[in-house]
Amino acid sequence: MKIKPAQPRDVLNYISPYQPGKPISEVQREYGLTEVIKLASNENHLGPAPSALKALRRGIEEVHLYPDGAGYELKNALAEQFGFEPEEIILGNGSTEIVEIACESFLNNGDGAVTGWPAFFKYRIAVRIMGAEPVQIPLKNFTHDLERMLNAVDEKTKMIFIADPNNPTGTLLDKDELEAFIKRVPEHIVVVLDQAYYEFIPPEKRLDAHKFIRDGYNLIVLRTFSKIYGLAGLRVGYGFARPEIIAAMNKVREAFNCSSLAQIAAAAALQDSDFVERTLEMNRTALMSMYEGFDRMRLEYIPSATNFVLVDFKRDIGVVFEELLKRGVIVRPMKGYDLPASARISTAPLKDIEYFLKKLDEVLKR
Ligand SMILES: Cc1ncc(COP(=O)(O)O)c(C=O)c1O
Repeated sequence: MKIKPAQPRDVLNYISPYQPGKPISEVQREYGLTEVIKLASNENHLGPAPSALKALRRGIEEVHLYPDGAGYELKNALAEQFGFEPEEIILGNGSTEIVEIACESFLNNGDGAVTGWPAFFKYRIAVRIMGAEPVQIPLKNFTHDLERMLNAVDEKTKMIFIADPNNPTGTLLDKDELEAFIKRVPEHIVVVLDQAYYEFIPPEKRLDAHKFIRDGYNLIVLRTFSKIYGLAGLRVGYGFARPEIIAAMNKVREAFNCSSLAQIAAAAALQDSDFVERTLEMNRTALMSMYEGFDRMRLEYIPSATNFVLVDFKRDIGVVFEELLKRGVIVRPMKGYDLPASARISTAPLKDIEYFLKKLDEVLKR
């Protein structure tokens, strides 16, 4: 019998799958290495928050039960910490899932969504899946060009995505400029402000998202437990928005999208201010050491407001990437972000950064 091949939706012709950082186990297998350092996915290399690990040990006894689909405890913990009501919060299987949920909730076929470029890859994938068109505005000085993004708004525009700090550049927008921008966006447009690296922003430079949401703006603020809290493998992120926006997104959300272990660990990690402080300290030390190393090697880089640095190697990044892999260091080449000579490198404890810089020096001197 001849079976006709299944026909994927037309929009999938315009989507290339997201390419995550290479896993450690794959590099160990391919290169026969035992020690491999991964500086490719902006994880927390101090490990998971200890309070989360403790909570997980208790939670594991109950994994025969479905999670709380309403996320009562975690939402209440978030509400208390950030001054929101639980109805103003959505939980996700990572914040990337909330990007998808937002697109499924607000984009129709043929709509437009304005994003920066290069910016987090997921926005354009999620927009295209809906049959909508991402309008990608080039960054200016490696930050979002807010003026041009506003000018790009037309009658088709339904959403705007801004990562602040941005990935892969690590740059933070000026708070006042961002506020002025949000106020100027036409009212009916949903602005998604992705703050995956929020905790790395100095408090005085943080936008008061609470005020905007309470003032009725169509703003969705996204955050995650994958970065500073060290829970990337559990997949848990959250979003704040007006209750009407959350209610719409809850219609799309899979009922049990945030696992019980993810919820338990996140609620415990949220209280772990010691771990947050230790991570910030590790991050500062790593950034200083990276900057010194890159200066010594005469490499250009963008000072970072996050836990990673974008470095310009002024040569085909493929070769540098491959040579580092052979030496047990995984970085993230940025070809897919139209930066063919650049790599994004995550922070880590000093001994790992020193090892990476030593190997990089070797590679560049070849
Ligand atoms: C800007 C930005 N948003 C979202 C994410 C993904 O976060 P999550 O693990 O919560 O899906 C990342 C991860 O690299 C990111 O850089």
